[in-house]
Amino acid sequence: MKEAHVIVDRDFVIGDTDPRLFGAFVEHLGRCVYGGIYEPGHPTADERGFRGDVLALVRELAPTIIRYPGGNFVSGYNWEDGVGPVEKRPRRLDLAWMSTEPNTFGTNEFMNWCRAADVEPMLAVNLGTRGPDDARRLLEYCNFPGGTKLSDLRRAHGWEKPHGVKFWCLGNEMDGPWQMEMKTATEYGRIATEAAKLMKWIDPTIELAACGSSSRNMPTFGSWEDTVLEHCFDHVEFISLHTYLNNYADDTPSFLASADLMDSFIEEVVAIADAVAARRRSAKRIMLSFDEWNVWYRTRRKNEGRTKLGWPVAPPILEEVYDMQDALAFGGACLSLLNHADRVKSACLAQLVNAIAPIMTETGGPAWRQSIFYPFRDMSRFGRGRVLQTRVSSPVYTTVYYDPRGTSELSFPMPDVPYLKLAVVDNLDEGTVTLFALNRNLTETLTVETQVRGFGALSLGEAHELHHGDLKATNTKDRPDEIKPASLEGVEITGDRVRVRLAPASWNVIRLSARGN
Ligand code: AHR
Repeated sequence: MKEAHVIVDRDFVIGDTDPRLFGAFVEHLGRCVYGGIYEPGHPTADERGFRGDVLALVRELAPTIIRYPGGNFVSGYNWEDGVGPVEKRPRRLDLAWMSTEPNTFGTNEFMNWCRAADVEPMLAVNLGTRGPDDARRLLEYCNFPGGTKLSDLRRAHGWEKPHGVKFWCLGNEMDGPWQMEMKTATEYGRIATEAAKLMKWIDPTIELAACGSSSRNMPTFGSWEDTVLEHCFDHVEFISLHTYLNNYADDTPSFLASADLMDSFIEEVVAIADAVAARRRSAKRIMLSFDEWNVWYRTRRKNEGRTKLGWPVAPPILEEVYDMQDALAFGGACLSLLNHADRVKSACLAQLVNAIAPIMTETGGPAWRQSIFYPFRDMSRFGRGRVLQTRVSSPVYTTVYYDPRGTSELSFPMPDVPYLKLAVVDNLDEGTVTLFALNRNLTETLTVETQVRGFGALSLGEAHELHHGDLKATNTKDRPDEIKPASLEGVEITGDRVRVRLAPASWNVIRLSARGN
C-alpha cells in the first residue's frame, strides 16, 4: 500500500480565497441559456421563464459570480438587441456557434436571474466586431443612475435602479483566430486600454480584466500577456487565463497529471505580470481571473458536437457527458485554483448548464448533476478561508503530456507526478480546517498522514469521497445518482495528526474541527 505524508502549519498561509474564485459562466451557446437557465413554459419555470429546478441546483452548486454573455459569442454581440420589448428584439446570426440568436434573453433578464440565483454578475464587452465606444455605452446603460440617454433607456425598460455591475471583461480570447475580429497583442492592448479609460471615466468603481492567452498552448502565450499588460497595466486589475483539460489520448494517468499544468500556467502569468510591474518599478500587482476552466474534449473538435447545420436556435452542442475520471481531473483543477488563492482572485467554471456544464437538463424535462458537479460544490462550500501551504511527500509516477493538437514534438514527459494532490483551507469563522485530497493512483489505496500544526487537538467534522469502480461511469437522466459522494470511513485522528486511506482514483474531503481556531 502506498503512503504519503503532509505537513501544514497554521502560520504558513498562501492567501485568502476571494469569494469570486468560485464563479461560473453562462454564454449564449447551445442550450446554456435557452433550455438551460431560461425556458418559459417549463413545468418549474417562474413567470420570468427561469427554470426553478435549475435554479435549485445552481444554489446547491454555490457559484458566486457568473460571467456573461460570452465567450466567443460576445465578440459579435450587439447588446442593444437583447434589451427593450421582447417582441421587438431582432433574431441574428451568431457566427461563434453557427446558431440563430433569438435575443429573448438579454442583459436585464440576466441581472434578474443573478438576483434569483444570489450571484454577482460579471459582464464581458464586445471588443471584436465592436470596441471602446460600445463598451462605454453598455456601461452607461447598466451602471449610470439616470438622466442620460442610455441610463434613461434602461429605466424606460423597467429597471429604475442601476445594475451596479462591478466586474467587466474586456473582450474574449482576442488572440484566437476563431474569434470574430481577433487582434494582435498590440492592437488588443491599445483598444483594451482605450475601452478601460472610457469605462472608468463613467464608473471608477469597476474592476477590469484584460484578455490573456486563450490557452497556455497558444504560440503567442507569454509575449501576448507581456505586450497586452505593457499597454493596459495602469488601467486593469486582472489578466485572464483559460484552460480546458483533455483526455484526447485516452490516457487517464496523463489526463489526471495535466491538471498540474494549470499550476505552471498560473505561475508563469504571475511572473509575466510582475515583470511588467518591475519594469515600471510599480508595487501594483495584477491579479489573475481564470475566467474559463473545465474539462472539455469529446465535443470540442468534432463538428457534430460543436455546431449543427441550418442555423438552429439553441442547438444541443457542446453537451459533454462527464464521467468519473473527468471529475478527478476537474478536482485537480480545483486544487490548482485553491493553491494559488494569493493571485487567482476570480475564476469561472465554463460553463454552468448543458454546454460543458456541471448541470444537465432535458428541454421540457428534468435537470441533473454531472460528475464534475461534486468537486465544484465541495470547493465552493468548504473552500472559503485561508489556504495553507502544504509540504507533501508522496509517491510519484511518470507520464507524458500529449499536446492537444496531436503534434508529437509538443508532447513532453511529466516525471515525478505525485499521486497525492492536496489543498488545505482554514476557515476561522467556522473553526474548521478542510483537507481536499485527490488520489491519482488508479489501482492502489493511498494512506495519507497529515500533521496539522498549530490548531491543538483536532476532531473529525465530516468526511466524504467521490469514487466509482468504473472510471467511465456517468450520471444520466435515467441514472442521475450513478456517481455521488459517499461517506469516507476510517479517518483516524490523534492529537494534531490525521490518518486517512484514500481509495484508488478518488476525490476526498475531510473536514476537521479545530478548537485552536
Ligand atoms: O466555453 C466555450 C468557449 O471556449 C468560449 O466561448 C470561448 O471563450 C472558449 O474558446
